[in-house]
Amino acid sequence: MQEIHHVAVLDFGSQYTQLIVRRVRELGFFAKLYSPDDLSEIGQPGAIILSGGPKSTGDPDAPDLDFEKLRSFKVPVLGVCYGMQLLNIKFGGSVKASNKREYGPAALKPTCHESLYQGVSAESQVWMSHSDTVQDIHTEAKVIATNQHGTPVSLSWPDDFYGIQFHPEVTHSHEGLSILKNFLLLAEDLQTFMIEDFKREMIEGIRERVGEKQVVCGVSGGVDSTVLAVLLQEAGVNVRAIFVDNGLLRKEESALVQANFKRMGVEIETIDAAAEFLDALAGKEDPEEKRKIIGNLFIKVFWDTVGDAEMLAQGTLYPDVIESASNEKSKASVIKTHHNRVPKILELQAEGKVLEPLAELFKDEVRELGVALGIEPDILGRHPFPGPGLAVRCPGAVDRERLEIIRECDAIFIGKLKEYGWYDKVWQAYAGLIPVKTVGVKGDERSYEWATNLRAVISEDAMTAEWVDLPAQLLRETSQDILNEVSGINRVLYDISTKPPASIEWE
Ligand code: XMP
Repeated sequence: MQEIHHVAVLDFGSQYTQLIVRRVRELGFFAKLYSPDDLSEIGQPGAIILSGGPKSTGDPDAPDLDFEKLRSFKVPVLGVCYGMQLLNIKFGGSVKASNKREYGPAALKPTCHESLYQGVSAESQVWMSHSDTVQDIHTEAKVIATNQHGTPVSLSWPDDFYGIQFHPEVTHSHEGLSILKNFLLLAEDLQTFMIEDFKREMIEGIRERVGEKQVVCGVSGGVDSTVLAVLLQEAGVNVRAIFVDNGLLRKEESALVQANFKRMGVEIETIDAAAEFLDALAGKEDPEEKRKIIGNLFIKVFWDTVGDAEMLAQGTLYPDVIESASNEKSKASVIKTHHNRVPKILELQAEGKVLEPLAELFKDEVRELGVALGIEPDILGRHPFPGPGLAVRCPGAVDRERLEIIRECDAIFIGKLKEYGWYDKVWQAYAGLIPVKTVGVKGDERSYEWATNLRAVISEDAMTAEWVDLPAQLLRETSQDILNEVSGINRVLYDISTKPPASIEWE
């Protein structure tokens, strides 16, 4: 049988490393991330990519790799940014350190239109993010592209070794994907990445690990935990899915989540813990304290219900598990990692009782898997919703009255977004409460009531976000309906803050 091989991406700590993996998979090939410290762990790959990194090759603690071992794989190797500089040193060249950073767009001008640059334009934009540059290029190296000033930005060495100074994985490098594709085409017998194959492998893996045991999992109605529960169900194992209603959910959400799972044929156990959560939160104003109370209570309620678990399944995703020195994770990812690594879970993990079948997937791949599992688009297209729920959309103390007001405003806003066909175009949207009273007039009477803030953003990974330029008519009707129908609100504001510096939630 013909052997097939994956693409190994060696992580030198760049904030873009995960994106390389994702782009390779987008191109239809299977890629995995590895530490450069021990190349014996990467098996026999079909191609190797060295990522960028925040260090200078001259730093005393600069990451290194075993070059002889790297050469012994006899497969195409691509060094990106730091990766290219390291390769240049290994091939006998050197790197000029600099305190000046080149960050942003530059022109790419290939000097050779073969290999990496086959079919690539004579000049196109690429994205740079570096301070050091290569120099003393070895006689065996060839300059295969320069920037607008004639400075080498891409090299090739014998045996299919290549280097590029720019970042092909970011969308600002306009032909970056073609360059990556050209590189992968140099490799032989690469393993393809198809979500259907992946699904089949996952199901087999789950069956093998679980056997006759019962697997417990928490569901929230969000995409990750839903896909996880349906995957377990599809694998035919004995699943116990638990849904904790913390009283901080949106209008009729608990009923909707239950109906959705029923539609998918997955039985869930709903724990109504609203009173417990609201009691614990009474009068608490500090955002971190509120988060802590909610997080700890969730863990308590969940484990009180579960007791001793034979196995626990979690919807941990790839970005949650990757530890990369400079990798700035999103808040959701950090919190999820934190939640998925509480002492009780670490204990179960040590006993081999934790199952994380989605741990190799990115968020959009989880959605693709959801489609492959037959989950309806309205469920897979739900906006992200934070674990602490409406509590982070109500600065200061939360109580039933405030929550009720948020629920009503939010339902009107989301309803309008759906009516106007904007719900699927925005990444996340909601209405919150600004608990500041202002004067207004309602009917013939003076009113003294709170304001609601509408927020709609587009984002890729929640780390940055832009507010959405919604049609004025949509906003006008939303405002009118809220002011007419929601008692307690006499002012509607639209949040036009980008992240950074603002966050998506208000707390
Ligand atoms: P921020 O407000 O930090 O939010 O811009 C980024 C994304 O993370 C979600 N978020 C959370 N998700 N638990 C979660 O599961 C949390 O405590 C939490 N806080 C924020 C937020 O909704 C947005 O999608």
